[in-house]
Amino acid sequence: MKKKLPKIENTLMGEFYKEYLDLQIIEEENAFISYGIIEDKCHIEDLYIRKGYRKLGLGSSLADKVTVIAKECGCTKLTTYSEKSSPGCKVATKAFLAYGFDIVDESEEHIYFEKKI
Ligand SMILES: CC(C)(COP(=O)(O)OP(=O)(O)OC[C@H]1O[C@@H](n2cnc3c(N)ncnc32)[C@H](O)[C@@H]1OP(=O)(O)O)[C@@H](O)C(=O)NCCC(=O)NCCS
Repeated sequence: MKKKLPKIENTLMGEFYKEYLDLQIIEEENAFISYGIIEDKCHIEDLYIRKGYRKLGLGSSLADKVTVIAKECGCTKLTTYSEKSSPGCKVATKAFLAYGFDIVDESEEHIYFEKKI
């Protein structure tokens, strides 16, 4: 049994997400997603599934939930990125592509993705 962690919104990190980054969070016991909406774009900033709970569809399910909200807000696309220096970049890229994102740009540090919704 994994230790139950406090809700992100009740942490200093949660305050940072909300106040400084202006991001919304959907949080479940073993996963969270943060996102922000600007005009017709819904940007996914972070998506994290706890080790041991990956490849079970939790990431897709959270992205689906954000998609519903984004559509309600009039968005026509989801955007996100992966950091090339991150140890999870390869897996994240595979997961984003499997979820239907396309690679739309690349810099030295990042790979940028978009998905029409
Ligand atoms: C990337 C991450 C969010 C994926 O979440 P997940 O819950 O494991 O993904 P899902 O189970 O919903 O899978 C979504 C799709 O990606 C594919 N996928 C997920 N992990 C994969 C892997 N390791 N290798 C290949 N494909 C993978 C799945 O097969 C699935 O495709 P399908 O629908 O065609 O079967 C998760 O691995 C994670 O939290 N990684 C660490 C943090 C991170 O890198 N976050 C992303 C950058 S912010």
